Amino acid sequence: MCGIIGYIGNKNSMPIIIEGLKKLEYRGYDSTGIAILDKDKLFIAKCKSRISDLEGLLKKRNILGAVGLGHTRWATHGKPSKVNAHPHTDRFKRIIVVHNGIIENFNNLKKDLEKDGCKFASETDTEVVAHLISKFYKGNLEDAVRKALRKIKGSYALGIISRDDPDKIVAVRHDSPLAIGLGKQENFIVSDVSAILNHTKKVIYLHDDQIAVVTKDAVQISDLKGNTVPKKVDTISYDIEEVQKGGFAHFMLKEIYEQPQVLSRIISHYVTAEGAIRFESFNIESSFLKKIENLVIIACGTAYHASLIGKYIIESFVRIPVGVDFGSEFRYRNPVMREKTLVIAISQSGETADTLAAVREAKKNKVKVLSICNVLGSSLTRESDATIYTHAGPEISVASTKAYTAQIMVLYLLGLYLAELKKTLSKNHINKAIDVLKSIPSKQEEILGNSRNIKEIAKKHLHFGAFLYLGRNINFPTALEGALKLKEISYIPTEGYAAGEMKHGPIALIDEYRAVVCIANDSFIFNKMASNIQEILARQGKIIAIATSGNKQIKDYVKEVIFIPRVDEQFSPLITIIPLQLLAYYIASLKGYDVDKPRNLAKSVTVE
Ligand code: G6P
Repeated sequence: MCGIIGYIGNKNSMPIIIEGLKKLEYRGYDSTGIAILDKDKLFIAKCKSRISDLEGLLKKRNILGAVGLGHTRWATHGKPSKVNAHPHTDRFKRIIVVHNGIIENFNNLKKDLEKDGCKFASETDTEVVAHLISKFYKGNLEDAVRKALRKIKGSYALGIISRDDPDKIVAVRHDSPLAIGLGKQENFIVSDVSAILNHTKKVIYLHDDQIAVVTKDAVQISDLKGNTVPKKVDTISYDIEEVQKGGFAHFMLKEIYEQPQVLSRIISHYVTAEGAIRFESFNIESSFLKKIENLVIIACGTAYHASLIGKYIIESFVRIPVGVDFGSEFRYRNPVMREKTLVIAISQSGETADTLAAVREAKKNKVKVLSICNVLGSSLTRESDATIYTHAGPEISVASTKAYTAQIMVLYLLGLYLAELKKTLSKNHINKAIDVLKSIPSKQEEILGNSRNIKEIAKKHLHFGAFLYLGRNINFPTALEGALKLKEISYIPTEGYAAGEMKHGPIALIDEYRAVVCIANDSFIFNKMASNIQEILARQGKIIAIATSGNKQIKDYVKEVIFIPRVDEQFSPLITIIPLQLLAYYIASLKGYDVDKPRNLAKSVTVE
């Protein structure tokens, strides 16, 4: 989604902003722009294309100025175009604004401002913010921002500069992330801290409704009433190398290959040398956890598929009902929550608008919320009663891979932890399960080491116009996730289905033009999948099967088989997904698509 970077210091801000914008590219955008302030001289450039094009435009000009704002836009109000790209200004071009989020009451505000004589240049909701601040401006930028915010409804992270007050950037957030980066005689504002890692690792995460006044030497934070708020400086825990491709053609491929390392890291983080599962800073009392009667897991996108796997895991380990819901459904559904319900919210970014809204809905009902999240200090972690971090490191590719398996690994550990508390599994059973989990990374390595075979299969199938993914039992969500990966990055119409449901609809689509990926790993219901396979073959569907190595039967009737190492079915989703991620990756990259930045998608969906 949209990205913000701002700089104030002694250096020329333009190259710093362009470099920051390039780091934000991965989040998904359709247009971009920059504003540079040199005392009261303002320069603005925008374009409806890539940041490299904007950079090309700027190279021809000698633009100097030690204050600047940059923005990548993901269109919500108004089509992607040069005019709609940020920064936006008021009619006098003295207030300059970049914005992530949505101003919900922009239409009414716009009508009022038009009555005051404002002329609007764009179709965006953002432009009203610039006009409104200008209306209230009486010589102090932050005061004008405060007054404007009283009128604005919606979600926003805003970076604001003014020609009349040129030695500061004002930054404010409400339901959209924004941080301040602290340097030496220079400071930054940024919506994603990975964009400033080569300048500083010291950051202040702004909270909702806090206003930061950022100058080159100082940062002051206050609330909407103007009261000073204490600052908490955090240190980013990862390095610049982690947000670089490190020799891989794409971030997605790098992140697929990182999975064994991520899963080992999670185990060593949460399993003690004695084999006990311990979660740090776990603020939910174990006496409460012992009593919980049901769980509701809420998430969006890939995290929703991890949640579905969580349902199979926790219901089996803990024997309590587990409901799974999309954040966007839960928030409007008037869901049933009881005193002994625990809500688990799963999110890689911790900033997904619908997941956050669902969490707020749960909190309104006084229900405890545990989050599973990858990003330290994100909104979700701040609003939950407790958080288990996935420690997957920064995930740059829009199509999520390592965050998914990390979420599932945490769900296994959480399931075992709850099973121990509620005494639904014996210690011996739990120990054996931990041993299986410890063996997963090396099994993933085995598949990654044989990826050439998967690339060959991808080559043979990339011309198919439609794919169907089938799975059963705990690998039904794997089928959904495999299908999602392929459609996200290859744009091939693809759906995932529970294999048992095939006869209730998808079978109508099967013919020689349909590729069907069957997750047919060893299972107590393998024979049921074998029957599905026969039914597909009878209708000339082209099958790619994922099967357990040593399965001799499958080769008799399926030509394209990807063998995976043997693992107990209950833990197999951590293995079966690897070939599906690689298959999607190779199909999309062989088709020549921009795998890391698929069209229309955003890494973190911070608007509803
Ligand atoms: C977007 C991303 C997906 C992600 C989903 C949920 O759609 O493109 O990869 O799964 O948001 O994001 P979250 O950060 O909450 O896990």
